[in-house]
Amino acid sequence: MKFGVIGAGQMGGGIAQVAAQSGFDVVVQDVKQEFLDRGRAVIEKSLAKLHEKGRLTDTPDVILGRMEFTTDLNAFADCDLVVEAIVENEGVKADLFRQLGQIVKPDGILASNTSSIPITALASASGRPERFIGMHFMNPVPLMQLVEVIRGYSTSDETAQFVTQTAERMGKTPLACNDFPGFVSNRILMPMLNEAIQCVMEGVAEPEAIDGIMKLGMNHPMGPLTLADFIGLDTCLAIMEVLHRGLGDDKYRPSPLLRKMVQAGLLGRKSGQGFYTY
Ligand code: CAA
Ligand code: NAD
Repeated sequence: MKFGVIGAGQMGGGIAQVAAQSGFDVVVQDVKQEFLDRGRAVIEKSLAKLHEKGRLTDTPDVILGRMEFTTDLNAFADCDLVVEAIVENEGVKADLFRQLGQIVKPDGILASNTSSIPITALASASGRPERFIGMHFMNPVPLMQLVEVIRGYSTSDETAQFVTQTAERMGKTPLACNDFPGFVSNRILMPMLNEAIQCVMEGVAEPEAIDGIMKLGMNHPMGPLTLADFIGLDTCLAIMEVLHRGLGDDKYRPSPLLRKMVQAGLLGRKSGQGFYTY
């Protein structure tokens, strides 16, 4: 099977890596060579770590040998499945799927790793809504078990079955849900992160204390502010905006502090500064 991934950021790189670990031939595309180089370096580091722990069936070199890095969208023409993992913006994703619908072979399946954007709207843009689906991996992809599988209004049973089986072949556990804003994962997770940010803004406690309370008190592996920094504050804001607009309830209103930090370019781990310094 030929597996395509669009975007060599933290999610796209992770999805491409796990697909190659699972034996698929993988093509990864991004808009600039420097983004591909950065993505490849992250993959190399992760593979080295997993190899050291004996968690790979092939050597990192063999796995990397299955991967092709390109800036050319036409490289997806003969892919059986293409998973998109670019910026969390409906207009940008819809434009991309309009182009991909013309490039990828007619029986190829298109999937989005979106955190929150309506699958049905992206499916319409692609021009092949029955062969379109949400395939939502969790960060960090090499370590996290879940793939949330989201059917759009017109997704066919064959497409859902193919993507479910592919997730299983990647060693993941696929769980199905329907197309509502934020699906299940982010409808439940993101308001908690937003509330933690609101606690910082209102001076309820220092960031370290908020994270410590949730880690030690609720047994969460990361505190909510550490997790928001890890996901990317730009992505958190984009998801909160989809929830707020899509569900129409003020309980999903993005914290003004979150908005301000994104405006200031403090995006968390990826920019070197968020609630913490990296
Ligand atoms: N590849 C390979 N190895 C990795 C890795 C990667 N990408 N990331 C971390 N590791 C390794 C570390 O190097 C470390 O190795 P050593 O033990 O040899 O030092 C090991 O994994 C454990 O990592 P840490 O010690 O740093 O930390 P940890 O034990 O807390 O585990 C974690 C890391 C699995 C990420 C854990 O902190 C965790 O589960 N955090 C929460 C993650 C989460 O909630 N993800 C979902 C985010 S929401 C989402 O994804 C959806 C969305 O749409 C926004
Ligand atoms: P990121 O900023 O790390 O990476 C995005 C990558 O996409 C960048 O390398 C960028 O250059 C590239 N890109 C942007 N526009 C492009 C285009 N038109 N064509 C090709 N490449 C393009 O972002 P990320 O955290 O990897 O998130 C990507 C997607 O995955 C988003 O939809 C996000 O909501 C979703 N997601 C994120 C997480 C997370 O924890 N960060 C978890 C699950 C899902």
